Amino acid sequence: MSARLKTNHSKFKPPVPLRWRREVERVLITEGQIARRVSALARKIESDFRGRETVVVSLLNGTVMFLADLIRHLNLPLRLDFIGVSSYGAGTESGNLVFTKELRLDVRGRDVLLIDDILDTGKTMSRVLPKIRALKPRRIKICVLLDKPSRRVEKVKADYVGFEIPDFFVVGYGLDFAERYRNLPFVGVLRPRIYEEVCKLAGKK
Ligand code: PRP
Repeated sequence: MSARLKTNHSKFKPPVPLRWRREVERVLITEGQIARRVSALARKIESDFRGRETVVVSLLNGTVMFLADLIRHLNLPLRLDFIGVSSYGAGTESGNLVFTKELRLDVRGRDVLLIDDILDTGKTMSRVLPKIRALKPRRIKICVLLDKPSRRVEKVKADYVGFEIPDFFVVGYGLDFAERYRNLPFVGVLRPRIYEEVCKLAGKK
């Protein structure tokens, strides 16, 4: 389940709020578009998980807004837990992955809804999935707000996708660059000079 991004083709260009205009080039997905899509995703997930013992497993930290909005629309009994996983460094590439928090709830025999903000190279998911599989859940379904299939290096597919997007460096609605911009209520495209400076300092191209 995915959605094509209407903003790419429409003439309507939502303005970037003044406060962010120096750093954010454009709004890719508006608050309203996110809200409508999240509620549609929730309807679909609800019908697929009805009657199951559901554990929602959310990957820290980027899922903070998506998770909060999605689960408040889920009319299902569920348990919630988190896995902390992060790629090192402040660049734009997925680096070395470190686990900062392990799952605590028992998922054996239960249905897991694994949530992430973005599926990019797939390296994070390909490290997380075997860890959860080893705990013997009945099934694992993956739900991501954003999917960038053009960047994939690992063979991972999400079951529920909010928006399939081109290879833009996006921030906001939980997504960061160097831990900033997570609080933007929309998904925006970061101006290249912002990340190019940091990448240069980190010795990346
Ligand atoms: C980001 C994002 C995904 C991952 C996707 O996490 O939240 O988990 O990268 O990239 P991949 O498909 O290339 O692995 P990050 O490590 O930046 O941590 P964060 O969630 O704290 O921002």
